[in-house]
Amino acid sequence: MKCNRLVDAGRRQFLRGGIVGAAGAAANTVLPARQAAALSLARVEYPSNRLANIADLAVDTPLDIAYPDADSPGVLLKLGTAVEGGAGPDGDIVAFSVLCPHKGWQLSYHAADRTLNCPGHYSRFDCESGGQEVWGHATQNLPQFLLRVDDAGDIFAEGVDELIYGRLSNVL
Ligand code: FES
Repeated sequence: MKCNRLVDAGRRQFLRGGIVGAAGAAANTVLPARQAAALSLARVEYPSNRLANIADLAVDTPLDIAYPDADSPGVLLKLGTAVEGGAGPDGDIVAFSVLCPHKGWQLSYHAADRTLNCPGHYSRFDCESGGQEVWGHATQNLPQFLLRVDDAGDIFAEGVDELIYGRLSNVL
């Protein structure tokens, strides 16, 4: 007798679960719209900041910059040959964060092989290949700043393609 009551209770519980499950499935049809809205909110509008003028640059001579704000040091480089992500009339101007993606040590430029090098644990990043890591502990390539050069030769940074070290998200 007691056993039958338990079976009945189990059936009721099962049916309730089915109703809740069906309601949940109906709610899921709404979720993609919510997710789409959340994704659009996560999209970042980066500032358009003037970094320098073409006339300020010489091949393989790094220029210190900061982007998108003063807490994010970077480097502006003219490489002398067209490269991935290169801006300007020669397609050879690039800019990167100099905060190592591993633990945030500050990178320095090595002109002989056009890499940015970390004094912390020796990660190396190729400036001719969009900041691709070529050796080391980092699990991410170097964030590259997206550049635009106007008719007057002014160079503007207008975005970042990776997560800058020390930031929890790409939100500024
Ligand atoms: Fe650069 Fe560790 S902080 S490799």
